[in-house]
Amino acid sequence: MADAGGIELSVELLRKGSCVALPTETVYGLAADARNAAAVDRIFAAKNRPAINPIIVHVAGYEDAAELVQLNETARSLAARFWPGPLTLVAKLQPGNAIAPNVTAGLPTLAVRVPSHPAFRAVLEQCAFPLAAPSANASGQLTATSPQIVAQGLIGKIPLILAAGLTDKGLESTVLDVSGAAPILLRHGAIPIEALEELLGTIEDGTQIKDRPTSPGQLLRHYAPRLPLRLNAVDVAPGEALLAFGDLKFMGVREGGWARDLPPTHLRNLSEAGDLDEAAHHLFAHLYALDQSEAQAIAVMAIPDTGIGRAINDRLRRACQAQQKD
Ligand code: TXA
Ligand code: MG
Repeated sequence: MADAGGIELSVELLRKGSCVALPTETVYGLAADARNAAAVDRIFAAKNRPAINPIIVHVAGYEDAAELVQLNETARSLAARFWPGPLTLVAKLQPGNAIAPNVTAGLPTLAVRVPSHPAFRAVLEQCAFPLAAPSANASGQLTATSPQIVAQGLIGKIPLILAAGLTDKGLESTVLDVSGAAPILLRHGAIPIEALEELLGTIEDGTQIKDRPTSPGQLLRHYAPRLPLRLNAVDVAPGEALLAFGDLKFMGVREGGWARDLPPTHLRNLSEAGDLDEAAHHLFAHLYALDQSEAQAIAVMAIPDTGIGRAINDRLRRACQAQQKD
């Protein structure tokens, strides 16, 4: 549990070079001492994560970030506005920094963020060293927004899950590359691109460029549930469960009847009110629940492609692509 005892135990384990699952405001992270290559190797092993995929480093504040990476004017204004919070900045490593080389997978850049979750911040403050932490799920599996999803993927592989319920945002941080002259979006996430563009003007969207070597994570299998997904569903086919969004008034079942009468095991609504933040918060927990049902597939209703809806749709499309490849 994320109380004083749990935090103390986490700090003790991290100091010894173990990796532990900690809550952040976005998703659970699998954290280890970012200066300790052996500890970082334990993250890769527990997640079965390819060594080419670099890990985000979490620090307590801007000054700690500036010791690790070179932050330009753009980075400074972003940090002032969005830290602590779900924005990750990719910037050039400072010479002589303390980060273990396996964290960056040998890249000259590092991804850093300042999380806002009080339990994660308490651990960071007591450790007083930076924490490398990818999402706490087995590589390619559902993103860990609840202690149950963390346990499903990592049980027996890590010594501790600091459980703190469902995470607030429900999606990973937005990743922005600020290492060059103009910022490039590397991952849609909890901060909508519109909010970044309000501050910076138009931002290049690098999320579709598959061979961009600076964003290796985008190449990999991601976010996939066990059951196949069918997106933009306007009805429910035989054998399907339904991941709904908004009003179910016109949603029918092909064999006859209404989606709202499906058994509870086969129906989850991301947000009855059609609220995108609420939908993001529930996305992976609801997918996880439907994935446990006896359905053969999951039909997903259309979700508006604006604000955080962009990040939700990005996750759903990647889940479908991953399944097609398998
Ligand atoms: O919300 C989050 O960001 C969560 C929580 C735990 O903080 N962390 C997370 O980490 O999602 P991870 O490792 O699952 O995703 C990191 C993403 C990957 O797509 C990775 O390729 C990219 O950031 N990344 C990391 N370092 C990078 C670098 N130096 N250059 C470009 N992309 C980088
Ligand atoms: Mg991840």
